[in-house]
Amino acid sequence: MDHFDYRDGALHAEDVPLAEIAAAVGTPCYVYSCATLERHFRVMDEALAGMPHVVCFAVKALSNVAVLRFLARLGAGMDVVSEGELRRALAAGVPGAKIVFAGVGKTGAEMAAALQAGVGQFNVESEPELERLSEVAVSMGAQAPVAVRVNPDVDAKTHAKISTGKAEDKFGVPISRAPEVYARAAALPGIRVVGVDVHIGSQLTALEPFEQAFSRVAALVGALREAGHDIARIDVGGGLGVPYVRSNEAPPLPFDYGAVVRRTVGGLGAEIVVEPGRLIAANAGVLLASVIYRKRGEARDFLILDAAMNDLIRPAMYDAHHDIVAVREPEAGAAILPADIVGPVCESGDAFAKARPMPPLAAGELVAIRSAGAYGAVMSSEYNTRPLVPEVLVSKDRFDVVRRRPTYAEMIERERIPDWLG
Ligand code: LLP
Repeated sequence: MDHFDYRDGALHAEDVPLAEIAAAVGTPCYVYSCATLERHFRVMDEALAGMPHVVCFAVKALSNVAVLRFLARLGAGMDVVSEGELRRALAAGVPGAKIVFAGVGKTGAEMAAALQAGVGQFNVESEPELERLSEVAVSMGAQAPVAVRVNPDVDAKTHAKISTGKAEDKFGVPISRAPEVYARAAALPGIRVVGVDVHIGSQLTALEPFEQAFSRVAALVGALREAGHDIARIDVGGGLGVPYVRSNEAPPLPFDYGAVVRRTVGGLGAEIVVEPGRLIAANAGVLLASVIYRKRGEARDFLILDAAMNDLIRPAMYDAHHDIVAVREPEAGAAILPADIVGPVCESGDAFAKARPMPPLAAGELVAIRSAGAYGAVMSSEYNTRPLVPEVLVSKDRFDVVRRRPTYAEMIERERIPDWLG
């Protein structure tokens, strides 16, 4: 469910016509809906009702500080993976205690920044990282609250590039070795064990892998407690999939996911942490773009947009499907013809969709690439020296630019020609 609907023949974000945003801000731009973010946050929160829990939004999915502030106001914590994301969460007003710091390669400097901020939990992924964290904490006269990320060796049955819970993936410590890693953690002066963490992948469209992974974690929690560790928190990660094709996709509902959490780890008297990113953000955002040209091709027409792979890399990187719709509602009975929807970047991979049935759009018309709120703007680049696109936040009948388009001068001024080049 989202709040991007046609009204009076025009696609709106909540009460704002997307055409109005395009006229004011220019295209391409990302548009996010507060009502949708809120709805998805609450659905997850309610799915865990009755268990002590905190929903830590995975900042990597959509890291604009205005969005983070909005979610924080609803009660969200944050899952961050770098000092940059930590700074964003703090800038958004999230208390350190509600921040979880994850990531397979935290540096000493990042650890120090996180300790300084008083983060509630470090998700540690290896013994060398444990040792380093202990040293940094001791040097600051602190103790780092730690959950060890375990790798349960479960096949998440998702795209290989976003599966993280199999033995061959770089993430976590093998669950079979977890007891010895916890023993090591308990012996380190700068470490305080607070919980267990697991995350098996992203865009999961079945519940079984979660069920398997969380059951293994539940067994581990029992063993760790017997060994004397205080496991007060169980972090089950993120990963619940979302529908990208509105017509026929139905990933598991958050309510059913919540039931799996409840049944596997919910009765262990621990606080549950979840780290959803995509679930909250994906369908709360669109990439709004204009058709620059309609070009005749051999097999079918190309719709060349002003948005490109540098703005939304998911189709090029994961062969991801995103629904693409005309902002002006097609008239009933309009001819629908397959078109290749592409960007202006000089690579054949710069395509949002191939042979996609589309109404006959002419140059200058607007399209919305849907489900682009998560892993959209955050993965964009300036490839082809294209400015990062603005981000717009809509709430009811108002909209605000929450990241402006940089000028070309700003893009170039970070670079420097050394004197010797004259
Ligand atoms: N927690 C951890 C430790 C993670 O690594 C991730 C995502 C999440 C939570 C949030 O997962 P979500 O709920 O969003 O599925 N760029 C890819 C997705 C990469 C996901 C990386 N980790 C994409 O566009 O599909």
